[in-house]
Amino acid sequence: MVGLGPKHPPSRKGSMHDVPQDLLQHVKEFETVFTVDRAKLKSIVDRFIVELEAGLAADGANIPMNVTWVMDFPDGNEQGTFLALDMGGTNLRVCEITLTKQKGGFDITQSKYKMPEELKTGTADELWNYIADCLEQFLHTHHEGENLHSLPLGFTFSYPAQQDYIDHGILQRWTKGFDIDGVEGHDVVPPLEAVLKKRGLPIKVAALINDTTGTLIASAYTDTAVKIGAIFGTGVNAAYMDNVGSIPKIAHLGLPADMPIAINCEYGAFDNERKVLPFSKYDEIIDRDSPRPGQQAFEKMTAGLYLGEIFRLALLDLHDSNPGLIFGKQDISKLRKSYLLDASFLAAIEEDPFENLSETADLLEKELGICATLAELEMIRRLAELIGTRAARISACGIAAICKKKQMQTCHVGADGSVFTKYPHFKVRGAQALREILDWAPQDKDKVEILAAEDGSGVGAALIAALTLKRVKAGNLAGIRNVDTMNTLL
Ligand code: GLC
Repeated sequence: MVGLGPKHPPSRKGSMHDVPQDLLQHVKEFETVFTVDRAKLKSIVDRFIVELEAGLAADGANIPMNVTWVMDFPDGNEQGTFLALDMGGTNLRVCEITLTKQKGGFDITQSKYKMPEELKTGTADELWNYIADCLEQFLHTHHEGENLHSLPLGFTFSYPAQQDYIDHGILQRWTKGFDIDGVEGHDVVPPLEAVLKKRGLPIKVAALINDTTGTLIASAYTDTAVKIGAIFGTGVNAAYMDNVGSIPKIAHLGLPADMPIAINCEYGAFDNERKVLPFSKYDEIIDRDSPRPGQQAFEKMTAGLYLGEIFRLALLDLHDSNPGLIFGKQDISKLRKSYLLDASFLAAIEEDPFENLSETADLLEKELGICATLAELEMIRRLAELIGTRAARISACGIAAICKKKQMQTCHVGADGSVFTKYPHFKVRGAQALREILDWAPQDKDKVEILAAEDGSGVGAALIAALTLKRVKAGNLAGIRNVDTMNTLL
């Protein structure tokens, strides 16, 4: 590694002294498998730029580069009351946001609902009814007995959707472990509207939004240096503002070349063709056993949904390929259960403050029923560190690729997601990777800074709904499907 500055996380190399030679040799193998050096990062970014361009050139490319019809940054004077529905990977959140008179101000009321695991592989009807239940319950709790006029909804649907209009989106494919029949290939707005209508809920979809676009807009609301919105969470992805002239696939629409338009990259799909990413045998297993093999290659190496599973597979492989090397004769059957461990397990290991790794030992006993020796604990800590570091370094490639493609030397990136906010050292490791990729001089401060975002799926969704209505009012109807509905919301 290059340029270990003061911000770099402390090296744990010194703490491998309890690891005997035979185990150490396997740790070294893990180091080879999971280390991504500067040259590799750079070649990943070069390929990334090619794929970003290909996605802008034509429909059907590997990275979809979805046009979102979000055509402006907010100016801080947006006003009104909006509902936001956030269907992420784990929770469903309903918010009511009032953008207040005060420049950049807002009030928010919100409720969270756990997304039942079985819903993710259930039927489309179950999904839409569950969403309607949550919205109904929200209105019941916060507006009982009121005679509500139509409420504009910003629907944050954080999956790849091709949008011909802002109030429209055809699901290209499920990601993040979802596998609900009968939704892929269809516009997701009409079934939601139908179920709302059936229940007599006074809600109308003003905009369908990706979490990255929401993050971009919400962050730019408070920091004008923000040019990219990124999610490092259950999935990984980013959005940025491009201009129509750089998007050949929409040239036929005849819009002005300098018109800004936000692009939801959907770059979790980067390198599905497997040209450059350093796939390990564990990545291969994750892909093979996923509901969508061959898809979301970049996401499967970097996102929170998969980090614990990569770790589990590596540990299991070490155990099974070397009888007697680790865990003695203990029953390791729990370790055989797919997706038993999530990223928070790795995060907890990396955060263990004790020299004897006693918290890691407790965790292993509690979650896996395994009693580990100090040598095993040190190996485990190193493995978690390698997997977390690989994820952070590879994640940085997407951001670097957008910056290089847009020739942005400096900017802020608004970032959200559980890995970004909760995984130890992720930010510092990502910043270090950007430094290596973008060749900043050692004395230079970070030129591209990845910073904690404003609430993209709530406030961002409300802002995008407000910007859409503002556009309708001004008669700029590019990318608006249901003008009549929008007019009822003005
Ligand atoms: C997945 C989704 C994408 C989303 C990302 C982060 O990659 O396909 O739409 O932005 O996860 O939630």
